[in-house]
Amino acid sequence: MKIVINAAMTADGKIATRNGNSAISSKTDLRRVHQLRKSVDAIMVGISTVLIDDPQLTVRFGAASSRPPTRIVVDSTGRIPSSSKLLKKADEFSTIVATSNRISFDNIRRIESTGAKVLVAGQKKVELRKVFRVLEQMGYKRILVEGGGELNWSVLKLGIVDQLVITISPRIVGGRFATTLVEGEGCNRISEGMPLKLRNVKRHANGEIILFYEL
Ligand SMILES: NC(=O)c1ccc[n+]([C@@H]2O[C@H](COP(=O)([O-])OP(=O)(O)OC[C@H]3O[C@@H](n4cnc5c(N)ncnc54)[C@H](OP(=O)(O)O)[C@@H]3O)[C@@H](O)[C@H]2O)c1
Repeated sequence: MKIVINAAMTADGKIATRNGNSAISSKTDLRRVHQLRKSVDAIMVGISTVLIDDPQLTVRFGAASSRPPTRIVVDSTGRIPSSSKLLKKADEFSTIVATSNRISFDNIRRIESTGAKVLVAGQKKVELRKVFRVLEQMGYKRILVEGGGELNWSVLKLGIVDQLVITISPRIVGGRFATTLVEGEGCNRISEGMPLKLRNVKRHANGEIILFYEL
């Protein structure tokens, strides 16, 4: 299985402003992201991203696909709202809520009634290694992780990410509490950081730079 993380950040490393606005990529970059979405079997996000952005996780921007990727939400208690765009279209687009044993039977019933599947893995948080293993058994070969920062950290920590693609927007938004590319517990020392191999760099006319790393 191949796992790719894609994210857009400002020049100061934020993937959203202090109040959660994350419209960072230009139209040109969004076209690239949607081509990438078209090439994968599933797109995964964390529940905070769903609660803040209410994404559709579909393939658009001229990249429409006859076999749309499955949308996966990592949500340990099943708090994804029934009114979210993901659940509202779960009868049309394959949708999985990866959750933990903390989910209630009511939430399982509520989520499944929309057409979404519930995948239980883990006690407190979602055990991502198990989720990826099950997805592999289900035949998924390419997974795109689209954040946010907490999920990016957890997936990177597993040591199974193949590629990290970062768009750097020529903007600074600051904010002590603005979400950065990778959150989580973090490392104590720089030398403990995960090493990246820079494989390619692209530049859009608007000053955006796209970095393609392998791990
Ligand atoms: N610019 C971009 O490319 C981009 C992309 C995506 C998101 N964003 C922004 O990022 C922000 C949200 O990011 P975030 O870091 O706050 O949250 P997040 O990564 O979207 O979601 C984190 C939540 O997922 C749940 N979770 C369950 N198991 C987990 C596990 N093993 N590892 C990690 N998370 C797990 C936890 O909530 P429970 O305990 O309730 O399960 C956790 O708090 C939003 O402002 C959004 O706009 C930006």
